[in-house]
Amino acid sequence: MFITDDIRYVGVDDHDIDLFEGQFEVEGGMAYNSYVIVDEKIAVMDSVDGNFGEQWIANVEAVLGDRKPDYLVVQHMEPDHSANIALFMEHFPEAVVVSSKMAQMMMTQFFGTAFAGRNLAVGEGDTLELGAHTLSFIAAPMVHWPEVIMTYDAKDKALFSADGFGKFGALDYDDPEGWACEARRYYFGIVGKFGASVQAVLQKAAGLDIAVICPLHGPVLTEDLGYYIEKYDTWSAYRPEDRGVTICYTSVYGHTKEAAEKLAALLEEKGCESVSLFDLARDDMFEAIEDAFRYDRLVLATTTYAMDIFPFMRTFIEGLTEREYQNRRVAFIENGSWAPMAKRIMCGMFEKSKDITFAENSVTIRGALNAQSMAQLEALAEEFAV
Ligand code: FEO
Repeated sequence: MFITDDIRYVGVDDHDIDLFEGQFEVEGGMAYNSYVIVDEKIAVMDSVDGNFGEQWIANVEAVLGDRKPDYLVVQHMEPDHSANIALFMEHFPEAVVVSSKMAQMMMTQFFGTAFAGRNLAVGEGDTLELGAHTLSFIAAPMVHWPEVIMTYDAKDKALFSADGFGKFGALDYDDPEGWACEARRYYFGIVGKFGASVQAVLQKAAGLDIAVICPLHGPVLTEDLGYYIEKYDTWSAYRPEDRGVTICYTSVYGHTKEAAEKLAALLEEKGCESVSLFDLARDDMFEAIEDAFRYDRLVLATTTYAMDIFPFMRTFIEGLTEREYQNRRVAFIENGSWAPMAKRIMCGMFEKSKDITFAENSVTIRGALNAQSMAQLEALAEEFAV
C-alpha cells in the first residue's frame, strides 16, 4: 500500500488477539503498523507484534525486491512494535538500528544486546539523511513509554507519531463508529495518564507542516488533520469533549441499578444533551472510562460492601484517578442497608484529583428506593441535567 510515492505500508492486521496489552477488548482486532521509506537509503519504521515477524519481513521484502533496508527506526520499545528487532537484524545483517539511547538500553533488556556496532542513537533535533528524505527526530517521552521518539519527514510532510493518534481495530475492520470512538478509548486507556507529555509533543508538532500522520496503530491520517489534532489537544488537556452525563453503577440485587436507570430517564426527560449508562460489572470498563473523560458530568452509584465499596466501583474510580481525572462534576448514589458509607469512600478517592466539583445533591438508598430517595434522585436530576 502506497502512503506517498516513497512511503509504503508494511504493517499487519491481528484478528486473533483476545486482549490488547493484556486488558483491552478489541472486537475489531488490532493493527501493528510499520512503514518503509524508499530512497537512496531505505528506512523501515518500527517492527510489529511477535506473532507476525515472518509476515512483516515478507511485507518488507515485497516492497524492496532486490534492495535491502539500511535502517530500522525503532520509535517505541513496547513489544507490540519491537518484538521483531532481533529477527530483522538477523535477516538483514547490513542494517543499522536507529533509536533513542533509552531504547538501546531496553533492547538489552529484551534481546540481551543493543546491537553494538550496528546501532545509532538519536534524540531531539537529530536528523538522518536518506537521500531526498531527511528524517528529523522528536523526543516524545511518556507517549507512551519514556524512550519514545517520533519522526518527521519534511519531503513528504509525514509525521510518524508512534502510539500517538493510534486506534483500536485492524485496518481491514470497517469500524461503524468511525475514528474517534475507538481512538478515544485507546487514548484514555493507554496514554490518558500522560496528558502533559502529549501536550508537550503537540506544541512541537504545531511547528511542523504535516500532510500525513502515520501512527503505529489504526489508519494513516491524510485529510482534515486539524480534526485529529484538536481531539488530541482536548483529550490531553483533560477538557470535556462534549456535554453530557455518564452514569456508572454496580448493583448486587438490582436496587442500585434501578436508581441509576431512573436517574438516566429523568435526565433525558429534562433534556440532558447525552446520557450514557454502564454496569461496571458487566460492561467494558474502558468504555466507561472513555465516556467519563468524554463528558463533563459523572454519576457514580454503588453499594457499601464489606465496609468498603463494591469492588468494580473501586477499580473504576482508580482507573479514573490514575489517569489524572479532573475538571469534571461528580455526583454520588449510595446504597447501604445498615451503615451506608459508599458516598464518603467514593468522595475520598478523588481527594488528590484536581478541579473536581461534587454535586450539591446526592442519593442515599437504604436497601430499596422509597419516596425519600426518589425525591433525592429528582433533585440530583434537576441539578445534573444542565
Ligand atoms: Fe503500541 Fe505503547 O505500544
